[in-house]
Amino acid sequence: MSRNSLSNIRYTLVILAALLLSTFSAYAEPSYEEGEQLFKANCTACHKMQGKLVGPQLEGVVQKYAGEEEWLAKWIKNAPGLIAQGDEKAVALYEQYNKQQMQAFTNLSDDQIQSVITYIRDWEPEETGTVVVNGEGATGDPLADPGIYYALLGLVGILVLIALLLVIITATLVTAVRAKEGQEEFTFGDVMTRARGILGNKFFIATATTVIMLAGLAFTVREARTVGLHQGYMPEQPIKFSHALHAGTNQIDCKYCHTGTTKSKSAWIPSVNVCMNCHMQIQEGPQYGKEEIAKIYAAVGWDPDEFAYVNDPQPVEWVRIHNVPDHAYFNHAQHVVVGNLECQTCHGPVETMEVVYQYSDLGMGWCINCHRNEKVKVLGEETEYTVADMGGLNCARCHY
Ligand code: HEC
Ligand code: HEC
Ligand code: HEC
Ligand code: HEC
Ligand code: HEC
Ligand code: HEC
Repeated sequence: MSRNSLSNIRYTLVILAALLLSTFSAYAEPSYEEGEQLFKANCTACHKMQGKLVGPQLEGVVQKYAGEEEWLAKWIKNAPGLIAQGDEKAVALYEQYNKQQMQAFTNLSDDQIQSVITYIRDWEPEETGTVVVNGEGATGDPLADPGIYYALLGLVGILVLIALLLVIITATLVTAVRAKEGQEEFTFGDVMTRARGILGNKFFIATATTVIMLAGLAFTVREARTVGLHQGYMPEQPIKFSHALHAGTNQIDCKYCHTGTTKSKSAWIPSVNVCMNCHMQIQEGPQYGKEEIAKIYAAVGWDPDEFAYVNDPQPVEWVRIHNVPDHAYFNHAQHVVVGNLECQTCHGPVETMEVVYQYSDLGMGWCINCHRNEKVKVLGEETEYTVADMGGLNCARCHY
């Protein structure tokens, strides 16, 4: 009888382990992340989650269409089609937004559209001010995903529970058997002996090890997928240079400082001499007074009182934020001049950033996604060909 029950227990154990694994693998389901990537590649040109851009704000839009999910998916896939068909809701939206058409996304699969919807539904605003220093808590960082910790914690918890359960079940069984055979009461010492027996049981150890190894594997794979990606990376810079103040408030053109973007592979960080074009005169700032601008003077060896260069220059060591690995080739001029892309498409709203951070993950999937969807422009006019049609997915174009 007890032998039989023990094999029942083993069944339970296997089923529990299987259940556990299936819930765990649900955590690795990439649809929110996929949705986020697709959203950034396809929708941010016209939509923000909060606030109106070309199209309406999308926060809460999935909730707005609760019960009409199918319609929403159709709309995202082919809004112009729906409008052309005379679909009532579509036409009303179109009228409401001054007949500015949303483009069709027939190139996205239904699964991809569901991912985008998942992303929009589950999106939450980032807490401002707590964004990352040195990459910690970066959006692309799996270690920042609390799901992983809950999953691992849950795993350990459940393993302990299984062990306890086994001890209790066997103890009860043995007590029953002994009572039947008229033997003495089951004691605590017996429970411990039993427990040791079960925890030392080869089958139990094998199952536990497998579960832990599989969990570790899932974890590693998930992490490896984003190795080298530093989305959200926002290091502190040697001078508190604000893009919000320069490119935002004072409307200085990005290309005035990043001159490489129009003619070279790299964008280039301006030398401090460029800063001096203005800061020879502007000696004080609204936020830091003379303190931060003094660092520019120190770097070029300028004495603002004597109004002359008096010391040896010392270059400012800006911390590099964006970095594509050496085995991949990326060229700014090709994208900015030939491709006619805005800096913001790839770098986000830099003109609002006090401190620049990495907006896109810069991974291969990101490059490829845009190449699949972005139409090539000739003399500023959009053609019907995507970058992919022109060979933009060939490995050799990006890898030497
Ligand atoms: C070319 C600009 C453009 C792009 C790109 C774009 N949209 Fe739109 N979107 C609009 C406009 C404009 C509207 C308002 C309706 C209209 O005028 O057709 C709209 C409306 C919507 C609506 C309905 C909003 C509401 O309040 O009912 C949803 C949902 C939506 N878009 C989702 C998306 C998603 C998801 C993507 C990316 C896959 C996307 N849009 C890409 C321009 C765009
Ligand atoms: C007045 C000069 C100036 C202007 C104008 C300017 N930048 Fe910058 N930019 C800098 C300097 C200096 C740095 C290095 C310090 C830093 O990261 O803040 C920098 C850094 C950056 C970086 C991060 C570089 C890295 O290390 O990876 C990006 C991206 C960037 N700028 C984009 C832009 C965009 C987009 C605009 C226009 C909206 C712009 N910049 C306007 C001076 C400027
Ligand atoms: C085209 C003109 C121009 C250039 C070039 C320029 N700045 Fe400025 N900078 C300004 C203006 C305008 C202000 C704001 C002054 C004010 O509002 O009182 C400012 C303010 C500042 C401040 C003070 C911020 C504060 O809030 O106290 C710092 C620091 C600064 N700039 C650093 C730089 C650095 C570093 C460079 C070179 C990479 C640079 N600037 C290039 C125009 C310029
Ligand atoms: C198609 C996407 C894309 C566009 C558009 C784009 N960048 Fe970049 N940018 C990148 C990538 C990718 C990197 C990393 C490059 C590397 O590591 O070689 C980068 C790096 C940078 C850097 C870091 C320093 C350097 O020399 O590479 C600066 C500064 C920068 N970009 C500014 C700009 C500005 C300003 C514009 C608009 C005039 C712009 N970028 C447009 C993708 C883009
Ligand atoms: C936001 C859209 C976008 C992103 C993101 C993007 N690209 Fe591109 N890319 C383009 C466009 C548009 C062109 C076409 C320019 C032209 O007409 O030649 C292009 C062209 C290229 C080409 C030349 C291809 C050819 O057929 O000649 C290379 C190489 C390239 N991109 C590499 C990259 C790499 C590497 C990344 C990621 C680090 C990247 N791109 C990210 C839009 C993008
Ligand atoms: C549009 C540009 C582009 C194209 C086309 C492209 N790659 Fe990549 N690839 C990249 C970039 C950028 C990275 C670096 C991503 C990172 O930071 O990890 C990369 C990384 C890789 C890596 C390193 C692993 C990784 O994910 O980081 C391998 C392997 C690779 N690519 C293989 C290929 C193969 C095979 C093809 C052709 C089927 C291809 N790539 C086409 C841009 C491209």
